[in-house]
Amino acid sequence: MVTLRELTTDDTQALTRIYSGASVRHTTGQELTLTQAQQKVRTALARAAETPRAQWSWGIVTTDEMIGLIALRRRTPTTGTISYILREDTWGNGYATEAAKHVVAFAFTTTGLECLEAMHHPDNPASGRVLTKVGFTCIGTSDRHADDGTAVAYQVYALPVPQDVRPLQLHRVPPT
Ligand SMILES: CC(C)(COP(=O)(O)OP(=O)(O)OC[C@H]1O[C@@H](n2cnc3c(N)ncnc32)[C@H](O)[C@@H]1OP(=O)(O)O)[C@@H](O)C(=O)NCCC(=O)NCCS
Repeated sequence: MVTLRELTTDDTQALTRIYSGASVRHTTGQELTLTQAQQKVRTALARAAETPRAQWSWGIVTTDEMIGLIALRRRTPTTGTISYILREDTWGNGYATEAAKHVVAFAFTTTGLECLEAMHHPDNPASGRVLTKVGFTCIGTSDRHADDGTAVAYQVYALPVPQDVRPLQLHRVPPT
């Protein structure tokens, strides 16, 4: 079982362990230094103090340690995105799914958000599986440009599926 809690300045070492190895392969691409982790916590705490609030970051915590980070960002008054990263040695225990369920419930009960979105690298199907288990639907792909300029088609998910015209260059999945 995992619970979510606000980040604290004591979390920096744990963050460097989370943002390392395979966990950054399809996300930031770079391991987090201690200085960057300190900045990340400072930024999260500053965003937590903003009104209206546009970002929530939580540590994902097991009984004895923080093993991941999950965030919710408001993109428009009613649309938000979620993202998550777990320490590699904790994968496969259902923790990301459990954490994402908490955040979806929070988003729809507490923030006024009506639609959530997320996307993942095509070589990262585990992330898509987490989203599907939480209730998201894959609605298409969106090209993102890698550092070398090549376009990578990220899978885009939404909950619930929006009816409006999408602002991003979305290649929709045909209805089944
Ligand atoms: C993606 C990530 C968050 C998943 O965390 P997790 O705690 O292992 O996730 P869960 O255990 O809740 O669920 C993982 C699901 O993916 C499945 N899965 C794992 N590897 C898979 C693969 N190669 N292909 C398809 N499904 C896969 C698991 O079997 C499980 O599904 P199941 O419960 O139906 O068996 C974790 O791998 C991670 O932190 N990766 C690096 C950061 C990242 O990619 N973040 C998302 C950015 S979009």
